[in-house]
Amino acid sequence: MESRLTINKCLSCEHRELSALLGSFRNFLRDNGIKQQPMWHQPLSAKLLSDLRSAFGFNVPKHFALEENELFPILEEAGCGQLVEILLEDHKLITEIIQIVMPLLDKAQSAGLLSEDEWQTLLRQGDALVTELTAHAEKEDAGMVPELEEILDKAQADEIYHRYRSLSM
Ligand SMILES: [Fe+2]
Ligand SMILES: [Fe+2]
Repeated sequence: MESRLTINKCLSCEHRELSALLGSFRNFLRDNGIKQQPMWHQPLSAKLLSDLRSAFGFNVPKHFALEENELFPILEEAGCGQLVEILLEDHKLITEIIQIVMPLLDKAQSAGLLSEDEWQTLLRQGDALVTELTAHAEKEDAGMVPELEEILDKAQADEIYHRYRSLSM
């Protein structure tokens, strides 16, 4: 059934957008072997780098903050504490991996070259990040979104959505 709540639509839509970007990231990593890192300054690499840096540096943290500050407390109060615990653990792990990946993406963008060790770390951790984020978004779409659908009334959902939108400006 189509979600009638804008905040739920917004979350699921952000999950889908992220999933498309993560797919490109994984292909990009796999297209380049261990021995050969990408030509970072080529237009396609540069565009992907810039999209990844916006996602991991801004969009994902903002999305996590919305969930943690606004939605998880509501879920907890409605008796979904166990689900919240699992999702919070995911956020913690994903944030730790982002903290490893981001400086490497920053360096690739600014210097145009990583050391061999750095490139291998990016290959490994980038792949782990794609796996964790994908599984996390699937968990939320299957578990959190339907719960919120039950719990939130339209006014509450709209209010959260508008507050969230105003943060994006
Ligand atoms: Fe989340
Ligand atoms: Fe999410």
